[in-house]
Amino acid sequence: MDVAPGVNEALKDFVLPETLGFGAVNAPVMFSAEWRDQQWGRGRLLPYGPIEILPGARALQYAELVFEGLKAYCVGQTQPNLFRPEENFRRLERSAQRLSMPVVPEALFFEGVESVTKACAGFIPSRSGQSLYLRPFLFGTESGYLLRNSHTFRFMVIANPVEAYASGSPSVAIERRDVRAAVGGVGAAKTAANYAASLRGSTAAVTGGHAVALWLDAVSHRYIQELSGMNFFAIIDGELHTPELDTAILPGVTRDSLIKLARRLGYTVHERQMDVEELLAQIASGRCSEIFACGTAAIVMPISALADTDGGVFKPRETNVIASRLRDTLLAIQERRAPDAFGWIRVLS
Ligand code: COI
Repeated sequence: MDVAPGVNEALKDFVLPETLGFGAVNAPVMFSAEWRDQQWGRGRLLPYGPIEILPGARALQYAELVFEGLKAYCVGQTQPNLFRPEENFRRLERSAQRLSMPVVPEALFFEGVESVTKACAGFIPSRSGQSLYLRPFLFGTESGYLLRNSHTFRFMVIANPVEAYASGSPSVAIERRDVRAAVGGVGAAKTAANYAASLRGSTAAVTGGHAVALWLDAVSHRYIQELSGMNFFAIIDGELHTPELDTAILPGVTRDSLIKLARRLGYTVHERQMDVEELLAQIASGRCSEIFACGTAAIVMPISALADTDGGVFKPRETNVIASRLRDTLLAIQERRAPDAFGWIRVLS
């Protein structure tokens, strides 16, 4: 890997601010590698800053872009660690394949993720819940309107010292007009287009005082898919229920980890189609005691209420009981405060 001029100065000059937010503070370095003539060039560590891209690049014109989100933790440790990074690698690979983009080789993915993490090791925030959020992404750089893939691509990794994405127990707005993803589309790929489709609903939810929108399936508008950027869980009769994966739902690494942890803790977990009308009735009757969301950025986000478009507000009788147990159990493993029984931790030496 090459190290560009200015990297050492950028790292030396960086001061970790007291307030981090989520994505408001940029790490001072980034990683970049280019694909041309059917092969990947050498990776480079660069000072964080603007990049040059042709205005006609397919990433800008046709959203030819896939990305990942994972975290490096350094809570009470001298060496940082990643959490299940091979899952992010495999999902980036699947996302790239869905958009018929060249896959990033595993060695290049880890070179990017690990070089940025190691360069930033001295200022990964160290309070529980904080981390260095890593954003690997791959995009088409060839200019042109012909609807086919680019012939040139760029793989980059940027990073942000962060707090948890969401705090407290917010309400969530049920989105009944827009659709985020349809079966057979790109909903299961982590690609910019999914997030673009959700922007109007997400913005309306935030403007209405809610944290995010809850998305329903594209055909019957009844079955819960996920929240904007998070997967969904409900506790019904003491058991966990989450929408079963299809090609419209993003297979979250946190979702998968919570299912495994919950089963180990003795909970029954159902992955099934979840009808929103049935869920609202179960909240009203008390059978559904609690709901929450999860994701890499959000970790586990308890939800205090579901707000419907007709003004109905459905509040489960409990908030953050099982969610907080799962969050604490997961975070203790991620931060290496608890044994890594599943072999999920990769320590960077
Ligand atoms: C993540 O959790 O990594 C995401 O990409 C979600 C995004 C809304 C921050």
